[in-house]
Amino acid sequence: MQSDHTPDHLLDPTSGPISAGVSGRPGSRNLIYFSWACLVYVIFVIVWGAFVRASGSGAGCGSHWPLCNGQILPSTASVTGAAPAAVSVATWIEFSHRITSGLSLLMVASLFFLVRRGSRLATSAKLRSEQRRAAGWAFGFIVGEAGVGAVLVLQRLVAGDSSLARAVVIALHLANTLFLVAALVWTAMALGVPEAAQSGSGLSSGLSGPGPDGRPLAAALFKRLRRVAALFLVVGASGAIVALGDTLFPAKDLISGMAQDLSASAHFLVRLRVVHPILAVGTAWALWLVLGAIESSNKNNDLVSKVGFYARFFLVAQVMLGILNWLLMAPHWLQLVHLAGSNALWVSVVALLFALNRIAKATPVG
Ligand code: HEM
Repeated sequence: MQSDHTPDHLLDPTSGPISAGVSGRPGSRNLIYFSWACLVYVIFVIVWGAFVRASGSGAGCGSHWPLCNGQILPSTASVTGAAPAAVSVATWIEFSHRITSGLSLLMVASLFFLVRRGSRLATSAKLRSEQRRAAGWAFGFIVGEAGVGAVLVLQRLVAGDSSLARAVVIALHLANTLFLVAALVWTAMALGVPEAAQSGSGLSSGLSGPGPDGRPLAAALFKRLRRVAALFLVVGASGAIVALGDTLFPAKDLISGMAQDLSASAHFLVRLRVVHPILAVGTAWALWLVLGAIESSNKNNDLVSKVGFYARFFLVAQVMLGILNWLLMAPHWLQLVHLAGSNALWVSVVALLFALNRIAKATPVG
């Protein structure tokens, strides 16, 4: 008998398998839907957060947190007794980011508690702890997001601030965001992918075959992909610093922008602008190679080939969006599309890591 706090339908085992024929999904259908909804909503909040930065609205609520200009709701009345003033667009943009990110904290916290209760449906103790661990990390990283957000506002590292401290905090913010997204993907996959799908008949004769060290090939490819994923974090963090440089020191045109990037007297944020594209193209090539190795080794695992296809698609799209971003000098809309693209690519890379990890763990060694 579950407690009365828990919405029954989310833990109702009878709301089991989504698609006919595949039984034993280790999470209830609604909990699986909720976990993917959390992921999509969190990515929306991340992209809206970039609009707060790109529109220079970060100081819209002053250096107050969590209150906005000292008030719960932005209002014309001033807290200092000064004449009432219209609420600025920047205030509404910053306030809406606080509301939407506050809601994402509540959603991920609910997911954490629901998975703790719902993981009793899991088909093994190992899977139960994997679901709970992933949801626990997601909860930890979203609390981290709120903390970094508070530091940005309370330390006034917003609007026109071009300090090294802001560059470091913005890069950490982006890295923490990628870890949050990774933990949410892992939670949703651990709830949705039946253990059976990655063992016995689900094992890919290629990926579960012996790798260079005698262990399953999936284990070796998992390690290679994990190394590239670590590089991806650096690419993302360097992108956030470039985005800050573009916001604070927008180039008049491409040529003068490139001259600025190469000038020894330019601000460090401007000179760092060349780093991201170079790192990104190098990492993109490394990722393309490991995705090719996974695809050529995978004989018949549908999940690996499907997620692998998405990863290759988003990789090509992301590099093209980046080049367009650079050529068009990062218009706001394209900055948001580029950031959404990097999250879509990251989701598919983490989903592939999950599938390879499952095959490696499910393949008997020796
Ligand atoms: C795997 C490929 C790539 C990934 C994952 C990636 C990721 C990112 C991320 C996370 C940001 C920060 C966005 C923000 O905080 O708003 C960014 C910004 C940026 N990226 Fe990339 N990027 C990639 C490739 C490229 C390439 C190839 C170029 C150019 C040749 C490029 C140019 C830019 C520019 C100009 C910005 C700053 C403007 C903005 O905010 O969009 N990116 N990138």
